Amino acid sequence: MTEPTLILRTLNDASCASALEPLFKKSTGPPLPFLMNLLAQPSCHAWSCWRGDLVVGAVWFQCVEGVAEVLDLRVLASCRRQGYGKQLLEASLQALAPVERVDLEVRASNEAALGLYSGLGFRATGRRSDYYVTLEGREDAILMTWAPEQV
Ligand SMILES: CC(C)(COP(=O)(O)OP(=O)(O)OC[C@H]1O[C@@H](n2cnc3c(N)ncnc32)[C@H](O)[C@@H]1OP(=O)(O)O)[C@@H](O)C(=O)NCCC(=O)NCCS
Repeated sequence: MTEPTLILRTLNDASCASALEPLFKKSTGPPLPFLMNLLAQPSCHAWSCWRGDLVVGAVWFQCVEGVAEVLDLRVLASCRRQGYGKQLLEASLQALAPVERVDLEVRASNEAALGLYSGLGFRATGRRSDYYVTLEGREDAILMTWAPEQV
């Protein structure tokens, strides 16, 4: 099946905040105002992806001295499992280059994200016990790292 066309836009300032709000409804992770404030920092790099007028995803990185960290990645709930997360992450990793490596942490129960990351070559490098709060108690964080292929 052909993957849907993705338009990638760099997030530069807070003017696009309202367009991104649908991504942050009923969700966990960092709140939108927190992420928008980060855009003022030179170390923050962020992109949104669009299908026509519809924002379908966004990703935020902090990059310091060649090491980037994924701060947040999300796809609109109604658009998941259509390849957007994969396309957005692949395109943003390319746009972020050159980086030495990209780190992230993900809830151990987040099968969708774990599948996405491992499919793109992220490998698990560690585990933080009881790192996240859940409705039932706490859960572990899986630490993952990606590095560009050495040529
Ligand atoms: C994680 C997330 C970004 C994935 O986005 P997506 O657009 O649905 O993912 P894609 O359609 O590109 O899927 C890529 C791969 O991820 C994995 N994946 C995605 N959704 C999955 C699911 N529900 N269950 C298991 N694996 C899944 C699969 O390996 C998939 O490849 P495949 O379709 O060839 O099997 C999306 O589920 C999301 O926004 N979740 C809420 C926010 C979140 O958890 N962000 C990550 C924080 S660390």
